[in-house]
Amino acid sequence: MLTRTDAKARGLADLPPVQSDSLLALIAMANADPRPHKIDVGVGVYRDGEGNTPILKVMKEAERRLLETQTTKSYLGSAGDKRFAELLRPILLGEHSDDERIAGLQTPGGCGALRLGFELIATVNPAARVFVGTPTWPNHPPIIDAVGLEHVNYPYYERGQATIRFEDMLGALQSGEPGDVALLHGCCHNPTGADLDQDQWVQVRDVVLDRGLIPLIDIAYQGFGRGLEEDAFGVRLMLSSCDDVIVAQSCDKNFSCYRDRVGSLFVKTGSTEATARAMAHVFQRAREMWSMPPDHGAAAVHIILDDPQLRADWLIELEGMRDRINSVRQRIASADPRLAFIGRQYGMFSMLPLSREQVLELRELHGIYMADSGRFNVVGMADQAIDRFIAAVVEALDA
Ligand code: LMR
Repeated sequence: MLTRTDAKARGLADLPPVQSDSLLALIAMANADPRPHKIDVGVGVYRDGEGNTPILKVMKEAERRLLETQTTKSYLGSAGDKRFAELLRPILLGEHSDDERIAGLQTPGGCGALRLGFELIATVNPAARVFVGTPTWPNHPPIIDAVGLEHVNYPYYERGQATIRFEDMLGALQSGEPGDVALLHGCCHNPTGADLDQDQWVQVRDVVLDRGLIPLIDIAYQGFGRGLEEDAFGVRLMLSSCDDVIVAQSCDKNFSCYRDRVGSLFVKTGSTEATARAMAHVFQRAREMWSMPPDHGAAAVHIILDDPQLRADWLIELEGMRDRINSVRQRIASADPRLAFIGRQYGMFSMLPLSREQVLELRELHGIYMADSGRFNVVGMADQAIDRFIAAVVEALDA
């Protein structure tokens, strides 16, 4: 047992250093670079042809209405805005929208949803292992570690070949035990842009069923890939087939409201009773962590989705963002055969076959900021910077 003196010896000054999050560090580095022609393709934020991340017109209108009509800022409870979660159901769950075995709640962004989903797993089965693809979003492993679950890597992507290591992925998932979790990217894979096709989703589903795994799907970019409906294929397939499914969703990108932290968690079990019990735990965990999610962004999304005209306008703005993503992809892909793979991928990210040294050299010589892994945001740069970006990358590939 610690004596009083021992306890005092552990002051805050005894905390070990922390390695800063690589993507957040990259934002700070790019911001600090005084060169006017720097190109920031680091963090995953949509930028238009001028290089700005504008607030969507529908969001501005919804915020105006919110300001005029909101009469109270009293508490909403741990579920947040219930109508917001209801309105997301047809968009995310499609034909499963009315399935009462699926329940959802508002969360602080997709990251909050992920944390809550893993908290639920840790509550039901602290011995569960989480199968995580490599590479993945750098914040996935820390979230899993933070809830005390073990994570096990499965190979996902071969960077040199720009291909999914599908057989290796299936082989690794086949070693899972019932109750283990398969973490899957719903669409627009972060960081590679390499998405499973429908046939591959079916094969993953078969292994998940065969091994009794729980799929936990992170879907943060719905509508940025093939289309709003198409991007939900994997989520809906798992919902059709598995009793237990967890979906962590984000509106931060497809409503371009990043800093407002708008997300949701959906949980499916085999019965309405089991879902109600699971949700009671989810609410409890949410209460412990953030009590209630921030309201503003979700309230604005609620207004957009509840108004037929604003909803239609949102779909047009979303299509505009998707079209830019896909046209920049094609422009880069057609510049050099070694970049052709970028045209076959989806979403904001792709991974260049560059070494860490080459990435750092691009940073130093050209002011091009991408993740050390070679991940870059295809719509991170303005139109006028694209040729300069391609020339610098091709020069690095030639070296
Ligand atoms: C990204 O991957 O760049 C985004 O998801 C932002 C983040 O929080 O890391």
